[in-house]
Amino acid sequence: MIDDPVLKGEWLPAADVGELDPSKPFGFKLMGEDLVLVHLEHGWECWLDLCLHRGTKLSLGKLEAGRLTCPYHGWAYGPGGACVHIPAHPDQAIPAKARTPKLPLKISSGIVWVAFEQPDHDPPSLPEWTDGDFKKIPCGPFSVNASGPRVVENFLDVAHFAFVHEGYLGSRDHPEIPDYTVEHTPEGITSKDINVYQPNPDGDGVGRWVNYTYTVFRPLVAYFRKNSGDKILAILLVVTPINELETVARFVLAMNYAHDTPDSERQAFQETIFSQDQPILESQRPERLPLDLQAELHLRSDRMAIAYRKWLNELGLSFGTA
Ligand code: FES
Ligand code: FE
Repeated sequence: MIDDPVLKGEWLPAADVGELDPSKPFGFKLMGEDLVLVHLEHGWECWLDLCLHRGTKLSLGKLEAGRLTCPYHGWAYGPGGACVHIPAHPDQAIPAKARTPKLPLKISSGIVWVAFEQPDHDPPSLPEWTDGDFKKIPCGPFSVNASGPRVVENFLDVAHFAFVHEGYLGSRDHPEIPDYTVEHTPEGITSKDINVYQPNPDGDGVGRWVNYTYTVFRPLVAYFRKNSGDKILAILLVVTPINELETVARFVLAMNYAHDTPDSERQAFQETIFSQDQPILESQRPERLPLDLQAELHLRSDRMAIAYRKWLNELGLSFGTA
């Protein structure tokens, strides 16, 4: 595993619950470590994706009768990652060491979160998750060859809308970013009252001025709430660090309008937006986000990005940063 004392104690997103098939193991990589999600009698568990016999990936195995069977010699693993059956020696006592490590796991806002070490806080959640006026739409997963902190910073950046998302989230006729404030709150770093003209903010083709509030809840989890008139769109960005320079982004959307529009329409819109960000993110050098504020040039409109970099520096995050 890539060592980072900060991220080790963070809840990191493994998957959206809707992506998972409880009858199958779900193998994935997190900070260079192979992990597997399995659904047993009492719900989802996350284990190291490793059979203790010969190091085979358990996620290649089958989930049968509440046990995950290794594809190589059929060792069966049950709750807590403990081996419960060795077919070649059915009568022999099972070695105590035949147990694949189990990681802490929680589900919040439709996301399965896991951690390498027990965090001292709950997983972040979408504030609108329990508000019945908002419909919720999961979007992604989107893979990108860029560092997690670069992906989060891009999410916080409104000055690129007029160029990268021209015709969607911005217009070259209105590239200016009025001043806004940034503050540290118990929830994280918040920037308020960012006003942006958007030619198509809601995917309906109608241009209007909108107002953004951004919050970074955790190093790899950010959120915005956007008001355009009575329409409110909120998005939780959850970033899975596969490796330092490989990232999976997922979005959980909440909107208090367009209740009759099929989710697939909004998901396609988010996919378009992400496909515009992707080549930018993959081109950025250095690939790791520089936390030394002398390393890149900053403007007033970068205030949120500056606060984010300073905060990561204070936390001592090394993963995906320079
Ligand atoms: Fe898993 Fe042998 S490697 S049972
Ligand atoms: Fe973008």
